[in-house]
Amino acid sequence: MAVDLLLGLQWGDEGKGKIVDVLTKKYDIIARFQGGPNAGHTLIFNGNKHVLHTIPSGIFHKTALNIVGNGVVIDPVIFKKELENLDKNNIDYEKKLLISRKAHLILPTHRLLDAASETSKGKAKIGSTLKGIGPTYMDKTGRNGIRVGDLELDDWKEKYQALTQKHLKILDYFNIQISYDLKELEVEFYKGIEKLKSLQFIDSEDYLNTAIKENKTILAEGAQGSLLDIDFGTYPFVTSSNTTAAGACTGLGVAPNKIGNVYGIFKAYTTRVGSGPFPTELFDKNGETMARVGHEFGATTGRPRRCGWLDLVALKYAVQVNGVTQLMMMKGDVLSGFDTLKVCTSYKYKGKEVTHLPYNIEPENITPIYSEFKGWEADLTEMTTEEELPKNLLDYIDFIEKETGVPITIVSVGPDRKQTIIR
Ligand code: IMP
Repeated sequence: MAVDLLLGLQWGDEGKGKIVDVLTKKYDIIARFQGGPNAGHTLIFNGNKHVLHTIPSGIFHKTALNIVGNGVVIDPVIFKKELENLDKNNIDYEKKLLISRKAHLILPTHRLLDAASETSKGKAKIGSTLKGIGPTYMDKTGRNGIRVGDLELDDWKEKYQALTQKHLKILDYFNIQISYDLKELEVEFYKGIEKLKSLQFIDSEDYLNTAIKENKTILAEGAQGSLLDIDFGTYPFVTSSNTTAAGACTGLGVAPNKIGNVYGIFKAYTTRVGSGPFPTELFDKNGETMARVGHEFGATTGRPRRCGWLDLVALKYAVQVNGVTQLMMMKGDVLSGFDTLKVCTSYKYKGKEVTHLPYNIEPENITPIYSEFKGWEADLTEMTTEEELPKNLLDYIDFIEKETGVPITIVSVGPDRKQTIIR
């Protein structure tokens, strides 16, 4: 039995939460493997909208077990709020939400450091969600971090104090005016820790490998997108974890030969939130329409997302890096009503046409080269079968399949669980 992966192929916000939720009935275990509360996974069903930040998107199903893996970073304050939302919705999570002892904790001062670091960058800022993600992963790789398992040890508060004192010195170095009340932040932090401690901590790598031997079905849920990967994304405008397939191995302790299907989620167009290069970005009415019809605002920060045409060069790169076996196309419904659609198939890069993603995709080096497609008028949001889809959309889908060499097995035509066409 293998572990299937579900990953975003663009700059995040592809709709992973919805698809995990749709697929959960096929799986015994859903496991998040990287990122933290910088993610916002939106699920809509029975007329209600739920946004998850750290908790795997299988939590609303009765039977699935949900694991927060070792590769994830947890902010106890945000995590407590997520649990309280589940309480409000009468979701019984105590027995079906398990936390890896090796997951790292986001401390209040990690968030302050994130803010100081971003401010110090001025115009070159990353556009971070300011959730303390970068500083927490820095402490992880710097071998200074505090892990969930430490909470079971007597001396964790001393470790916490020592690390916090160090952070305060680094904050002094930034010499940037940030107003905060550490005592107040710590009150919330300790309340979050108590809530976290009410859950079951596990040695998740052992748990998952035992589950594999017992033929349990497992879906690994990614956060953010491949173009935000710390190694393969548009560095430095990236997040601080490996969002690509390899991240699932290190973020869960699952060997590469245990990986089965790799589901790659992408939008029928492209969006990006935060700073950084975006070759197919639109600054015209078409971009505005995508933003308006697609409700393109960040689920975590509420920031407007930048919108543009589908970039097949970048999509093929993500398919390759991840070894995607099935594609799932989201938000096709948002493109209804466009006369002409464009898809970027190559770039003019430093005067030459290239079909791969070059090292530097800053606007001064890159001009996208587009293929054009006829649009469609029909509203897709009530459609439930492939036969109902307009021919021009099917041509669009065909083209993407041919270019990537990977079948599109799900076409999503709206945010609700029910608005999902399986091919
Ligand atoms: P950070 O990971 O919060 O520091 O943010 C780094 C970059 O990744 C910024 O451009 C963010 O906007 C972007 N980012 C982080 N998480 C997400 C996400 O879940 N969706 C989309 N963009 C994200």
